[in-house]
Amino acid sequence: MSTDHRIAMEQPGLFVTGGAGFIGSNFVRMAVERGYNVMVFDALTYAGNMENLAGLEERIRFIRGDICDAASVRNALREAEPHAVVHFAAESHVDRSILGPKIFTETNVLGTHVLLEECRQAGIERFIHISTDEVYGSLGNTGLFTEESPLNPTSPYAASKAASDLVVQSYAKTYDFPAIILRCSNNYGPFQFPEKLIPLMIIKASNDEELPVYGDGQNVRDWIFVGDYGSAIFQAIEHGIPGEVYNVGSNNEWKNIDIVRLILEEMHKPFSLVTFVKDRPAHDRRYAIDSSKIQRDLGWRAETSFEKGIRQTIEWYMTHRQWWKNIMTGEYLEYYQKNYEPKR
Ligand code: NAD
Ligand code: TYD
Repeated sequence: MSTDHRIAMEQPGLFVTGGAGFIGSNFVRMAVERGYNVMVFDALTYAGNMENLAGLEERIRFIRGDICDAASVRNALREAEPHAVVHFAAESHVDRSILGPKIFTETNVLGTHVLLEECRQAGIERFIHISTDEVYGSLGNTGLFTEESPLNPTSPYAASKAASDLVVQSYAKTYDFPAIILRCSNNYGPFQFPEKLIPLMIIKASNDEELPVYGDGQNVRDWIFVGDYGSAIFQAIEHGIPGEVYNVGSNNEWKNIDIVRLILEEMHKPFSLVTFVKDRPAHDRRYAIDSSKIQRDLGWRAETSFEKGIRQTIEWYMTHRQWWKNIMTGEYLEYYQKNYEPKR
């Protein structure tokens, strides 16, 4: 579709913010395999991890930098001279945003604004903004989020992502800045930080520890394998239309409790490990994505079945114990204690 919108691809250069995080590092690996010339720009917060990029050291350029720091972004963009910027960098965890919201506004709103302005000044040809379906808020039992659904975020995380999404839209409208926005559902797969549902439950089950399920466990999320999201991002870079928003999802709705049950079954662990804990405040009940636009206009669709993806993910965590053991030290334990205070 629309080859008019293709960017020059002779020596395709990508500038990837947040490339040492979960989705970013999976994407960088795919980009290198596809022959892109990649520079990762990442502040290496608690969620950024150079081990996520292990084996790629000789094949990418890495700059440790903060998207809130204009001079550092400017210098890195000068060095990289990228065709496209893919902007993953963010504070990404809802529970942390409830415990300490300010950094979410700083990084996700102000950081995105600084990055956008530097990209505009640098004349970047394509900017992929990694937004989220959480900007839409919560659904009832029926219906799907479309690109026209109103933004109605709940958590400080979602609000900061909605605000940055709007700043990106304002640049596209006001300055004709070539931004494309992707709003994707919950990702899972290798290298996901163990604060998020699926890796947390796999690791807890493996250790025969209690699996903490919030509230009644009936909240629904729409899960996509991280590699499928990566392929959607490439479609957006190569064929997406500037100014457009695309929802990305794989029609895979699960209640939290059913995912936890599936993980326990796959790992041959008893359901009695499940413990229902105090609910997350203002916990969104259901997310579900209508991704017909990206399927129709860019010819993308998810290819990994949940059955296959979840097995692959469990297998990855079981064969990469050192990766998560290295993470589950001081800062992580402190956060865990704070978030999972006893049910009152
Ligand atoms: P993550 O928390 O695993 O990684 C975030 C990365 O951003 C880390 O490497 C961190 O060091 C870096 N970072 C944070 N602050 C920075 C700053 N100020 N400057 C530079 N780098 C900084 O997150 P993730 O799960 O990989 O999510 C990536 C993006 O995708 C986020 O924008 C998130 O909102 C979005 N998203 C995530 C999901 C999901 O299910 N994980 C779903 C939809 C959208
Ligand atoms: P999470 O992975 O934090 O993603 P998000 O909140 O961005 O969708 O959580 C996914 C779902 O799992 C969400 O409904 C909250 C729930 N959850 C638990 O029940 N227990 C947990 O320990 C965590 C981390 C999440």
